Amino acid sequence: MKNMTRRQFVVNSSMTVGGLITAGAIPLGMVSPNLAYAQEGKFVESSCGTKGKKILVAYESFCGSTSEVAQSIADVFCKQGARVNVRHVQNIETLSSYDGVVIGSAVKSASWHPSAIEFVKENQDMLKQIPVAYFLTCLALYFDTTEAQDLAESYFRPVLTAVPGIKPKAVQAFAGVLDYGKLNMMFRLVMKAKMKKQGIPEGDFRDFQKIESWAEKTVWPLLTGV
Ligand SMILES: Cc1cc2nc3c(=O)[nH]c(=O)nc-3n(C[C@H](O)[C@H](O)[C@H](O)COP(=O)(O)O)c2cc1C
Repeated sequence: MKNMTRRQFVVNSSMTVGGLITAGAIPLGMVSPNLAYAQEGKFVESSCGTKGKKILVAYESFCGSTSEVAQSIADVFCKQGARVNVRHVQNIETLSSYDGVVIGSAVKSASWHPSAIEFVKENQDMLKQIPVAYFLTCLALYFDTTEAQDLAESYFRPVLTAVPGIKPKAVQAFAGVLDYGKLNMMFRLVMKAKMKKQGIPEGDFRDFQKIESWAEKTVWPLLTGV
């Protein structure tokens, strides 16, 4: 398993992106938007298996906790005997060899992160041909109410609307993480004010039992037809 620290991620991204911008290869708008939010965070990437179905678990994240959710989903598939890659959306070149793809994003402003939506848009031709599942992490699910559940599910609407041709076989929202120490100064202040108003404390609200159960009982059979 490869752990990129936030710093390494920023340095790698800055070097790559800086070079490409200088070369005029990509517009400024494509610079990793999540560099704007976090000052610290690990982005997990890993691979397992040598035979069996080939599955990709792709993610977008600000501070890294969604990459750990992606990894726990991948671990379930690895135990089932699959070949699994966990990758940040920016580090995926092709989907051509995969039998199934799970894509997840941390929520920002009531939506999947724009770069995760862009990833689905850009790869929709390939994604139409294989089973796909979506997940997200958010803080709305700090509250265990029907309203919170409805709100969290509404966060899928932007990606479902932007790429209507992709019909995910499963969609699932999970509670995420609020760690002010990982946010940069501006977003720490913004989030502190917002979360205080909503009554959401700092903490890790991920339920890995629920995440693994979804991966095993819902997604694995859908992706593999088993
Ligand atoms: C700038 C910003 C905006 C956010 N907007 C929302 C939101 O609209 N709704 C929500 O439920 N959670 C929101 N969140 C919470 C994140 O989705 C949640 O903390 C997630 O678990 C972070 O995952 P990460 O550690 O992978 O970045 C926001 C977080 C940040 C930093």
